[in-house]
Amino acid sequence: MKKKILMTWAMWYIGSHGVVAFEKAGYEVIIVDNLINSYISTLEWIEKILWYQPKFYEYDLRNTAKLEEVFSEYNFHGVVHFAWLKAVGESCEKPLNYFDNNVIGSIRLFQCMEKYWVKNIIFSSSATVYNPENFLDWIGVKEDAFTGATTNPYGTTKFLLERILQDLAKFSGFIVMNLRYFNPVWAHPSWCIGEYPDEYPNNLLPYIMKVVCWELPHLNIFWDDYETIDGTWVRDYIDVNDLIDGHVKAYQKLEDGATQNYTNYNLWVWRGVSVLELVEITKRVTGKKIPFKLAWRRSGDIAEVFCNSEKALKELWWKATRSIEESVKNSYRFSEKIIWKK
Ligand code: WQD
Repeated sequence: MKKKILMTWAMWYIGSHGVVAFEKAGYEVIIVDNLINSYISTLEWIEKILWYQPKFYEYDLRNTAKLEEVFSEYNFHGVVHFAWLKAVGESCEKPLNYFDNNVIGSIRLFQCMEKYWVKNIIFSSSATVYNPENFLDWIGVKEDAFTGATTNPYGTTKFLLERILQDLAKFSGFIVMNLRYFNPVWAHPSWCIGEYPDEYPNNLLPYIMKVVCWELPHLNIFWDDYETIDGTWVRDYIDVNDLIDGHVKAYQKLEDGATQNYTNYNLWVWRGVSVLELVEITKRVTGKKIPFKLAWRRSGDIAEVFCNSEKALKELWWKATRSIEESVKNSYRFSEKIIWKK
């Protein structure tokens, strides 16, 4: 009998890769997603990879009655919680919307977990919880660094949920694997799932892909006078498939008897890439032009962001392995497929 896992917001970019990876790892995934930021068509794309569609419930986590229907239907072994809304800029425009979705929605989930004796959870957190001054440390921020000085409501929701889960681990018997990451990008090697938003992309990678696929005229690079290799921002972009492998390994560690009730892990590559470097790599891999213009700096950006993933390597036997070139090719081929389907 397969162990059943409830996966929230799994019709969205990262979550859909989670469905595929956990099903391939031998679990039965049941999806709950309110489709606020995702598409029902994702199920058809997942089916092209798995040859079947996992069970899906279009429910909002804040609807306790509906959520209890799912918990009473299945004897879940655990939860993988990809909460929830994640656009930093949007969170600054609509803070209460983020607190309502991400925090209230998660608390309703945790209440159901407790009521139905489901205590195992993988939580998709973020390096945005770390205090910004930590990032000045070139060896990379470790899991025990100070957190809480968040600079936007999105980061605040992640920090609040980490603190709630720490207390649930301490007082309510929850077993929590808390994963902190930052720039998940690119697509599945089947080219069936990835990130290619309909709307105007907030993030760099989907924006570059829309320029490559001639849906946008040029890339805007948010200034180039920073103290980095070429003046543009540096990020540690992680292939979403590497990232999800880390989720599976964290769950398997939890199953094997996690050492503590609450554990933090950074899932990072330790490979800094600037915006201009990424443009050049994408041009080389796709053979396409990527016109760009300098645009004024985006508020709240940090020049270089690095975290240290030694703990995940030592305790989860996890490290990122995919090459940027292979990842860019997957993203390009996925984007072309989406364009062709339109
Ligand atoms: C990358 C770099 C921009 C767009 C991420 C996630 C967010 C959250 C926090 C997890 C930046 C530059 C971008 C463009 C550009 N993740 N850029 N032109 O800013 O690191 O935010 O971390 O909690 O969800 O998005 O990622 O992809 O937006 O930008 O020059 O059109 O590219 O300045 O340094 P970012 P990004």
